[in-house]
Amino acid sequence: MNRVTDPVVRAEAVVDLAAVRHNVGVLRRVAPGADLMVVLKADGYGHGAVEVARAALLAGATWLGVCTLDEAAALRAAGITAPLLSWLHLPGEDFAPAVASAVDLSVSSREHLAAVLAGARAAGRPARLHLKVDTGLSRNGAPAARWPDLLDDAAKAVADGEAEVVAVWSHLAAADTPDHPSLDVQAARLTAAWESTRARGLDPIRHLANSGATMSRPDLHFDLVRPGIAVYGLDPFDRPVAESPLVPAMTLRARVVLAKRVPAGEGVSYGHEWTTPRETTLALLPVGYADGVTRALNRHGRMRVLLGGALRPVVGRVCMDQVVVDCGDDEVRVGDEAVLFGAGGDGAPTAQDWADELGTIHYEVVTGVQFRRVVRVHTGGDEQQW
Ligand SMILES: Cc1ncc(COP(=O)(O)O)c(C=O)c1O
Repeated sequence: MNRVTDPVVRAEAVVDLAAVRHNVGVLRRVAPGADLMVVLKADGYGHGAVEVARAALLAGATWLGVCTLDEAAALRAAGITAPLLSWLHLPGEDFAPAVASAVDLSVSSREHLAAVLAGARAAGRPARLHLKVDTGLSRNGAPAARWPDLLDDAAKAVADGEAEVVAVWSHLAAADTPDHPSLDVQAARLTAAWESTRARGLDPIRHLANSGATMSRPDLHFDLVRPGIAVYGLDPFDRPVAESPLVPAMTLRARVVLAKRVPAGEGVSYGHEWTTPRETTLALLPVGYADGVTRALNRHGRMRVLLGGALRPVVGRVCMDQVVVDCGDDEVRVGDEAVLFGAGGDGAPTAQDWADELGTIHYEVVTGVQFRRVVRVHTGGDEQQW
């Protein structure tokens, strides 16, 4: 596989599967009594769903979670047979292939349930349902007023042999704030919905906790936890890398394609927002906003990369395909590697640093890396066992 160590690769996102396994180990230790579903939506938060799934299962994860039927199908096509939940669908989708390949399906309305049951009939086997209740996020999930109707239909489907109710579940609104009052309210509402399901003679599990609640609220673990961001090593409470038990898995780096001396007084990049204050060496990196290195990163001139052992400023505007780095009088060569963000231990910026600069969250940073030109590479080994 091409790597940045290969002269033709311009930029790569290196995903350390040893870090993924470490993070899964951390999560298992904080939630020893619960099953562990690793959330792999959006191609594993940009890290590669199949590779992360394999690493996570090796490290003790017991379930996988995705957003779409296509994401679920990709995991099954890769030969991954672990329990797998998919949770955001249009009622018009064809659920038969998912039922046939033992993908558990979330339903939030009678319409969704009817569509899933049609898929179950076409597949010739019962659908495995996770009934989603809206406990306070006001996003997906059946509202309280619709829950009894959904339960009626689900209980009938079970009686007809068309479905099994595997779980009652919900999603938290403020798990990054462990003492936020909404957490207790949501947990109580979930438990009420679960008890009403049991009162129909069904015996589902309950699940609620994402990364934040998995790491801070053992009382909300119930039967299964569903961490996503923590698996990728990004701290749900935005703690600095040195203070977090997690290890960031993704490093984004690029190779210098041109280095040149430029005299004092020359404008750099579009709009000449930065002018060389002295003669200096400028290094050109072949990544830009089309690759996920968003323009706003250098809006205030604070973007830095680790190049040649030092943090160096990106100067001038970020372009679609390239950025310019000021290296002063230090020697820099074509082919040298620059780290744009990484695990933090080497002094390079982190995804959290980017998020702080951009006024966003690290989730958006790692899912924002574009793989049209950036190559994704997995290291850390165990994927080769599959
Ligand atoms: C339904 C559901 N469960 C779990 C998660 C994982 O959340 P986090 O990445 O905060 O751990 C997500 C992601 O947003 C989600 O949508």
